Amino acid sequence: MLRTALTATLMAAAAWSQTGDVKLAEQAYKNIVELKGVPAEQVLPAMQFMATSLGVDCNFCHVQGKMDADDKATKKTAREMMHMQAEINKTNFRGQKQVTCYSCHRGAARPVAVPPVLDSDAAPRPAAPMAAPPAQGQQVTADQILEKYVTALGGADAIRKINSRVQTGKITAMGSDSPIEVFTKAPNKRVSISNGSSYTAFDGTAGWMGNTGRPVREMSPAESMASAVDAEFALALRIKELYPQLRRGRPEELAGATCEVLNASGPGRVPLRLYFDSKSGLLVRLVRYADTPLGRIPTQVDYADYREQDGVKTPFRWTLSRTNGRFTIQISDLKNNVPIDDAKFAKPTGDVK
Ligand code: HEC
Ligand code: HEC
Repeated sequence: MLRTALTATLMAAAAWSQTGDVKLAEQAYKNIVELKGVPAEQVLPAMQFMATSLGVDCNFCHVQGKMDADDKATKKTAREMMHMQAEINKTNFRGQKQVTCYSCHRGAARPVAVPPVLDSDAAPRPAAPMAAPPAQGQQVTADQILEKYVTALGGADAIRKINSRVQTGKITAMGSDSPIEVFTKAPNKRVSISNGSSYTAFDGTAGWMGNTGRPVREMSPAESMASAVDAEFALALRIKELYPQLRRGRPEELAGATCEVLNASGPGRVPLRLYFDSKSGLLVRLVRYADTPLGRIPTQVDYADYREQDGVKTPFRWTLSRTNGRFTIQISDLKNNVPIDDAKFAKPTGDVK
């Protein structure tokens, strides 16, 4: 049932796999019923989607150490729910994942069927901000939004004159700060090193992670695809090539500022939603979506503190938020066009040095 909707995911996974054959869920795991036919690497993202939609941990449905066992009633219910979700979407929404666990559960194990009464004198607020309708006679196109962005950054010529960048600053997560260095090189290589020992990298083709003295871990195809977005050195100039489908969405308010919105998708790419400040033209938010067999998991990056150096503006602060956590990076020093050896981005063999 989930199979048709997943063809695109399967193809994307196959494109990444060097040998071209994709291991299926039922080949990699012991007790798969609903996720049959899904690539094995999509099983854990599907689990994350269920856990985050219900606001629970893995052990809500599983006994630790025996994930294949069906000894919890909640796991059996979850399987029925997966089946129900697929049926609802097949019957009503042409197989599109319009209704998901989150639609009903909204972060709780037990959905609420009855609307609440007012608990204060304040008017009830809709869960999501209302989109402002586009102003009459001011219809801008996706191309115009991108042109304004490129101009706001300093223009295409200035952007092309910079080919590498070294940034240092601090990363703040869960209230504590650590030093961070970020090395980037055109067109799409990136490595960030926090505390001098914790690496997250994209070598231009695939991503890897690791800590000094421990074995390196390759990113899954889905993680790699997400990491590839962050690694784009000049997304402003490459976006049309990478994302042939660029559609303008309805403008939205972000922290009091009106933003133009672009939805981007393309073969083998994670779908993106981009928010540009209508006044400055700068990119203020990027949301990328990891497709799972059950629904999409968002990662949001908010950009701020744009400063100009060598004729080009870059954000000196960004906050990355996921369903289960967030961190902020504040850059204090930036150097452009510093030579960086490609070896800096390459996945080490064995332990991370
Ligand atoms: C809401 C219930 C629920 C939650 C929460 C949940 N799972 Fe699952 N899990 C399931 C169900 C149902 C299956 C079987 C899927 C199928 O039949 O295709 C499963 C299967 C699995 C399997 C395959 C086991 C095998 O060998 O057959 C693994 C591994 C797994 N889950 C890991 C996790 C992890 C890790 C988490 C936490 C991030 C998690 N699950 C959270 C319900 C859940
Ligand atoms: C169309 C609405 C809807 C969707 C979609 C939905 N659920 Fe549910 N779910 C419910 C309702 C309603 C209940 C409560 C049933 C009851 O109280 O007997 C429930 C109960 C559950 C329970 C039992 C909770 C407990 O405390 O025993 C689990 C587990 C569960 N759902 C998992 C899921 C998962 C996982 C998904 C997505 C694959 C999902 N549900 C999608 C409506 C939905």
